[in-house]
Amino acid sequence: MNKISMRVMMLTLMVILAVTYWAGSRNLSVEAASSSTTVKKGQATPTFNKEVVRILQKNCQTCHHPGDIAPFSMMSYKETRPWAKSIREQVLLRKMPPWKPIQGCGDFRDVRALSDADIQTLVAWADGGSPEGSPADLPPPMDFPDGWPLGAPDLVVNPQSDYSPPVSGDMYRCFSVPVGNLRGDRWISALSVKPGNPKIVHHVIAYADPTGESAKLDDNEPGPGYTCFGGPKLSNTDMIGGWAPGSRGYFAPDGTGIKLSNNSRVVIQVHYHPIGEAETDRTPVGLYFAKAPVGKQLQVLPLVNTTFAIPAGAKTHEVTANFSIPVFLSAQMWAVTPHMHLLGKKIKVELFKPGSDQPECLVNIDSWDFNWQGTYLYKNAVTLAGLRLKLTTILDNSIDNPRNPNTPPKVVRWGRRRRTK
Ligand code: HEC
Repeated sequence: MNKISMRVMMLTLMVILAVTYWAGSRNLSVEAASSSTTVKKGQATPTFNKEVVRILQKNCQTCHHPGDIAPFSMMSYKETRPWAKSIREQVLLRKMPPWKPIQGCGDFRDVRALSDADIQTLVAWADGGSPEGSPADLPPPMDFPDGWPLGAPDLVVNPQSDYSPPVSGDMYRCFSVPVGNLRGDRWISALSVKPGNPKIVHHVIAYADPTGESAKLDDNEPGPGYTCFGGPKLSNTDMIGGWAPGSRGYFAPDGTGIKLSNNSRVVIQVHYHPIGEAETDRTPVGLYFAKAPVGKQLQVLPLVNTTFAIPAGAKTHEVTANFSIPVFLSAQMWAVTPHMHLLGKKIKVELFKPGSDQPECLVNIDSWDFNWQGTYLYKNAVTLAGLRLKLTTILDNSIDNPRNPNTPPKVVRWGRRRRTK
């Protein structure tokens, strides 16, 4: 079906030095309502309109509404009812809502998880014939403006035209987009990406280009955008943020942000993974400006190993990377974005203090799923000065890995598609 001789491999771990919560703020009123819906044994079967929809609003509809990433909508009784048994199974197995970091490592905010009481309610509803209940019990519906997971952006940065990447071979393409007159410099507090063509868009990273030098790079190459494996080729840039399958975006804490200069440019780097057929894409990025004054600058710190080689057939190949933070750097870590590709199995980040071999565990994902990547935000910022961050990943380059794009397996290194003869 797909003729991929070698999939791009990249191990990145982005440590974001300041950031805050998830898109959950508009659900606050729902939250209060659903916490009182515990069902005890012997109680009447919960109904969709009363208990169930409130749990779905708080925990499921953000993805399960038309136009978003989940395969079906749970906005109405009619749409949800056929899935009752499947919902029962998914919540009992704790597969839904999806959340990858294992418990006990990293104290994250806005953890996507159902309470035991909510699970009981959904199970009791499915077991009790999934009744609809009285229309009078229905809460006001949730609203999802324009398909942006974080709500309507303040500025949409959209490449000027569609782009058709080559039909085979991975491609990193950068699109240089002017931001126009912003009536002064702005601070970005959130970024949201709407992949134009999810069939071929593998991941997206947006960069600030304060001097506008990307315009020239774009002009120098035929067609929209320019080739840019590894980075946007700018001498002065900051990573604004990115998107990979499953990520939803997040807002930085008040008082922090990433600077966007008036009349500057934003470079949208799209990693295309073609499917062997002609496809076009145009991927816009939505920016949200800080409402409060910003005193602390956010930075994305990639912690990457670029020198690895995973032997063909290796089942549990370990790749590590270390990064020591200078004592004088008063940086705090607010969030972490683990990132691997299809051979990834496990990924862990630990913090080592000088003179101690007992690391603090910062994030640990033991069942990596390329389709569920996210940024995880700490409840309390982690102080880094003088400490060492260690990234450990386990990769499976054997035939037992159902996601291995190479049969038979081949040596895989950092970088673009490589052929090994
Ligand atoms: C962050 C986004 C997201 C949230 C939140 C979410 N889902 Fe899903 N759900 C998905 C996606 C994407 C799929 C399809 C791919 C997959 O299974 O991973 C899915 C699939 C499902 C399926 C079908 C599984 C199957 O293959 O049969 C069920 C049932 C389900 N979700 C129930 C729920 C319930 C119940 C909640 C809330 C408690 C929930 N989901 C929350 C994104 C989400």
